[in-house]
Amino acid sequence: MIQTITRLEQLRATIANWRREGLRVGFVPTMGNLHAGHYSLVTLARQHSDRVVSSVFVNPTQFGPSEDFTRYPRTPDADTSGLQAAGCDVLWLPEVEAMYPFGVELAAKVQVPGVSAVLEGACRPGHFDGVCTVVTRLFNQVQPDVAAFGRKDFQQLAVIRQMVADLQVPVQILAGEIVREHDGLAMSSRNQYLSAQERATAPAIHRTLLAMRDAAQAGAPRAQVEAEADAALRAAGFVPDYAVLRRPDFSEPVDGQPGPLVALIAARLGRTRLIDNLEFGLA
Ligand code: PAJ
Repeated sequence: MIQTITRLEQLRATIANWRREGLRVGFVPTMGNLHAGHYSLVTLARQHSDRVVSSVFVNPTQFGPSEDFTRYPRTPDADTSGLQAAGCDVLWLPEVEAMYPFGVELAAKVQVPGVSAVLEGACRPGHFDGVCTVVTRLFNQVQPDVAAFGRKDFQQLAVIRQMVADLQVPVQILAGEIVREHDGLAMSSRNQYLSAQERATAPAIHRTLLAMRDAAQAGAPRAQVEAEADAALRAAGFVPDYAVLRRPDFSEPVDGQPGPLVALIAARLGRTRLIDNLEFGLA
C-alpha cells in the first residue's frame, strides 16, 4: 500500500528506516497530474532501487508571472492510485511552507549557468533556477541513490546532470524514454489544455521532429532544416518559440559532420505551450 507523507520529519524517519535495512532508494520528482510518462519513470527507478519515493509538488518558483501556475492541473486522488499501481512506495506531498520554510521570496537559489541560458532558459527566464532550486531541496529531503527524469524535458535533464556533477550531489541520474500517445504527441499534463481541434493539430510537432531528422540525415544544412520546421509548424497553426537542430550539449552542429544530434521544438498552440524533442545520429 502506498504511503502518502506530508511532513518532512515523517519522510526522513521512513527513509532512515529503509536505510537501516540497507535498502536502496529511488526517486521520481513530479508536479502531479500524472500520466504514463511519469509512471514509466517509477518503473525505471524501481529497476535500480528497492524503494521508490515520488514527489508531487507544483513548484511556484519555476513558473513565470504570466504562466499557468494557478491553473496547472491538480489531481491528487488519481495520482495516488496511479502511483500505487506503478509500484511507488511513498508519495511525498509537501506543502509550499515545507519546501520554502523562509518563503518563496527569501529562498536560497540554485543556479546552473551555461546550459540553463539557451532555448527553454531564454524563453522562460528564471525557469531553470526554479527547477534547480526545488530539485536540490527534494534531493536533500529524500537523499535518493538514484533519481529518474524524462527525456521529454531534454534540457531539464541536461541542467540537472550539470547541477549534480557541479555540486557533487551523491545521486545517480537515470533518463527515461519519451512516452507518446498513439498519434505521436508526447504525453504532457498540459495536453489537456488543448481544445479538440488543437488536440488534432498537436501531433504535427512530432511529425515535424521526424521530418527534421529525415532532412538532416539526407544531408540538408541545419539552417534549411530549421527554416522548414518553423514554416511547417506555422502552417499547422503553431507559433513556434524555437525549432532547432543542436548537438546534445546545445552547440550548433557543423553541417555534414557525423555524431549525435537532437531536434528540439517549443511551440504555442492557442494558449498552450508544448515542447518535444527527438534524439538521433548523423552517420
Ligand atoms: P513534470 O512536468 O511533472 O515531469 C516530471 C518528470 O516526468 C520529468 O522528469 C519529465 O521529463 C517526465 N516526463 C513528463 N512527460 C513525459 C513523457 N511524455 N515521457 C517521459 N517522461 C516524461 O519536470 C517537472 O515536472 C518539474 O520540472 C520537476 C522536475 C518535478 C521540478 O519541479
